[in-house]
Amino acid sequence: MIEDIGSIANGVSYLTPRMDFFSNAYIALRQKEGRILNDDEVAKLPIASQANPNKKEWGMREQSSSRFLKYLNGIDKPITILDIGCGNGWFSNAMASVSSKNRVVGLDINVSELEQATRVFKKDNLDFVYANLFELNDEFDSQFDLIVLNASIQYFKDLIGLMKLISRFLKPQGEIHILDSPFYPASDIEAAKNRSLQYYKNMGFPEMGDHYYHHSIESIKDFEILYRPKRKLASLLHRRKDSPFLWVRYQTS
Ligand SMILES: C[S@@+](CC[C@H](N)C(=O)[O-])C[C@H]1O[C@@H](n2cnc3c(N)ncnc32)[C@H](O)[C@@H]1O
Repeated sequence: MIEDIGSIANGVSYLTPRMDFFSNAYIALRQKEGRILNDDEVAKLPIASQANPNKKEWGMREQSSSRFLKYLNGIDKPITILDIGCGNGWFSNAMASVSSKNRVVGLDINVSELEQATRVFKKDNLDFVYANLFELNDEFDSQFDLIVLNASIQYFKDLIGLMKLISRFLKPQGEIHILDSPFYPASDIEAAKNRSLQYYKNMGFPEMGDHYYHHSIESIKDFEILYRPKRKLASLLHRRKDSPFLWVRYQTS
């Protein structure tokens, strides 16, 4: 069981050795983007204050998260959930709040937000862990009913390889869900890559271009689509803007 392994520092359990090769640049960029929030702000997410520069985006995330939480609510047995790339933990906490009988593990490699998550969200059925997934032994094998990647798949280079790896963490009839992440038609990937590289360069963090990946719609062909964003015109007719991203599910047999 994961609670039996690794050391604990500032509330975070370390399942693999700490490496900061990615997180220093990532946090500095997110700070510049206004995405690193104080503890009070994090506690209220996905509701963002008027002053939050990403308020509109959080409005959309409110909708995608509430759709997902409704789905979780409909599962009529206690389940274990792994939230990969949990960041400041707001979504892990929201999932843990659905039922105290569920168990949620938020996993990330950025220590400052993991520590914030443990400070802000304290629940008996919620843990935050630091782990490089690719360095785990068998600690997570067959442990989870459901794995979520919420706005994090774009930081993993090899989506197919990742799916193969994390499928091992699932119990029989387990599910992997991906939400709030962009997927592109193959013909659009090159242009999207160039836009990202230019964006990171303009922001002063060109090295982040080495950590952000663009996945094709083809790469999720084995997933079932649970939410498809409305076309531009239809979404213009709706007062509240909804997520522009697919929500997809992969189920093991
Ligand atoms: C955009 S944030 C999303 C945070 C949160 N899931 C949310 O929905 O707001 C992406 C997160 O993925 C994490 N991440 C990137 N690469 C990772 C990796 N190899 N293993 C675990 N987490 C990773 C980042 O540190 C970051 O916290």
